[in-house]
Amino acid sequence: TGTPMIAPSILSADFANLAAEAQAVAGPGAGRADWLHVDVMDAHFVPNLTLGLPVVESLLKATDIPLDCHLMIENPERWAPPYAEAGAYNVTFHAEATDDPLAVARDIRAAGAKAGLSVKPGTALEPYLQIIRDFDTLLIMSVEPGFGGQKFMPEVLAKARTIREVIDAQDLRLLVEIDGGINADTIEQAAEAGIDCFVAGSAVYGADDPGSAVAALRDQAAA
Ligand code: DX5
Ligand code: ZN
Repeated sequence: TGTPMIAPSILSADFANLAAEAQAVAGPGAGRADWLHVDVMDAHFVPNLTLGLPVVESLLKATDIPLDCHLMIENPERWAPPYAEAGAYNVTFHAEATDDPLAVARDIRAAGAKAGLSVKPGTALEPYLQIIRDFDTLLIMSVEPGFGGQKFMPEVLAKARTIREVIDAQDLRLLVEIDGGINADTIEQAAEAGIDCFVAGSAVYGADDPGSAVAALRDQAAA
């Protein structure tokens, strides 16, 4: 861990004003987001539909904040690499969506992005501990994927503590990210469990000043 990273989720932003919403967390200083989190949903892996590659390509032109694409989709073998080719910084797919996560990670990296593995709240980490060294990011879901504005599930923090021990013991270069229900009331317990990067949707884009919310969350996580 180092300085906590904050990744605002544009799922909670105004989709008709995405460039302006990205700019709201791209100013200089403490209100600048580390990553912009982009939730891609296909109405199959999750019961919701959001956006896809064309919108990501437009966002890449609209902001210089690195894009953190969270693919809540089936068949990441086929659909994940194009996000890397387009220029996303980090491309995360779900462990539950593929039988061969290593092959997907390899293809994402070959296309020039960091590779992330995500686990739903009910998915154990143990089956993936052997392959996690081949990923750059582990995204621990702290709500059921599909919608913003849900309640944080503190029980998933056990997985954060487990992976932190593995990282330390094996000296891995793995970023641990958490997604779902992160706000002023929950970010401190997540930070204590060893999280590096905090996704926040409603807590950032529901605030009057998204940039100030980013700065305040980062301060809280560092405390
Ligand atoms: C949920 C998404 C999250 C969501 C988080 O499936 O993966 O990124 O935007 O929203 P909040 O922070 O409001 O829980
Ligand atoms: Zn997400």
